[in-house]
Amino acid sequence: MKTMLYVYTGTGNSLWIARQLALELKGATLEFMPSLSGNSNVEADRVGIIFPVHIWGLPHRVIQFVKHLQAKPETYFFALAVNAGQVAGALLQIKKIMSKRGLSLALGYSIVMPTNYIPWGGPGPIEAQQQLFSQAREKVKAIARSILRGERKEVDRGPFWQNILFSGFYRMSFRQVPKMDKKFWVDDKCNSCEICSNVCPAENIEMLNDKPAWLHRCEQCFACIQWCPQEAIQHGKKTPKYQRYHHPEVTLKDLLDQDKTSKL
Ligand SMILES: Cc1cc2nc3c(=O)[nH]c(=O)nc-3n(C[C@H](O)[C@H](O)[C@H](O)COP(=O)(O)O)c2cc1C
Ligand code: SF4
Ligand code: SF4
Repeated sequence: MKTMLYVYTGTGNSLWIARQLALELKGATLEFMPSLSGNSNVEADRVGIIFPVHIWGLPHRVIQFVKHLQAKPETYFFALAVNAGQVAGALLQIKKIMSKRGLSLALGYSIVMPTNYIPWGGPGPIEAQQQLFSQAREKVKAIARSILRGERKEVDRGPFWQNILFSGFYRMSFRQVPKMDKKFWVDDKCNSCEICSNVCPAENIEMLNDKPAWLHRCEQCFACIQWCPQEAIQHGKKTPKYQRYHHPEVTLKDLLDQDKTSKL
């Protein structure tokens, strides 16, 4: 039985989760989620979609991916929404989009990991991060068992009031996302290494006079600010004092390689 896992990530949490799941499912193929603008056929019996929750919903890339996905009607789909404690209605959203395309989401799970949303602060103490990693590892093992049994369940969701409130925020902000890069700026520590430009999955950063310039087609993945080795990229006023984050078992090379080949 062929299993494909598609992952989108800014700071490696979703990639790490996808790798844990691939280990449990033995023989699953793991690929970075491509940026799709036309229909794409997936030839697999089981398909997993693993992504971070952004602004209480789905990142643009995930929506585009799911909207262009073509598969046999009997394909077994599952989704893992990696988040920092507020999954809200993200899994209901993906389920709805899939259903409009005649695809059925069998399982949808929320997995809580350290936050990479640096405008609100750092990822928290290392002990708390490690606790999240070990809880996530256990949850992934249980999810893998459900997948292997071919189960179908209600998807995880936040409390009702949160879903209503947050889906309102999501709808209001969604169209603004490409221009939210206006809040990024670069300080004197920048040494023009170009890592930010190379790590951006949206090709949204060009080097202008040896400094990054954002082109307003941002996906808000936060890879640029979190992977800058000099911590020279800032967002608003508070980030100079906040700790950077990426998953400790994911390397910059892992993310940079996604351009050359989508295979992992
Ligand atoms: C722009 C942005 C918005 C986010 N919104 C949410 C959110 O609504 N709920 C939540 O729980 N976490 C939110 N997060 C945190 C990420 O979902 C979380 O840290 C995730 O593990 C990051 O995964 P990644 O490392 O694969 O990119 C947000 C992060 C970013 C960058
Ligand atoms: S990654 Fe950081 S140091 Fe390198 S060019 Fe970008 S902002 Fe400058
Ligand atoms: S500019 Fe930064 S936040 Fe926006 S898509 Fe590129 S790496 Fe992600």
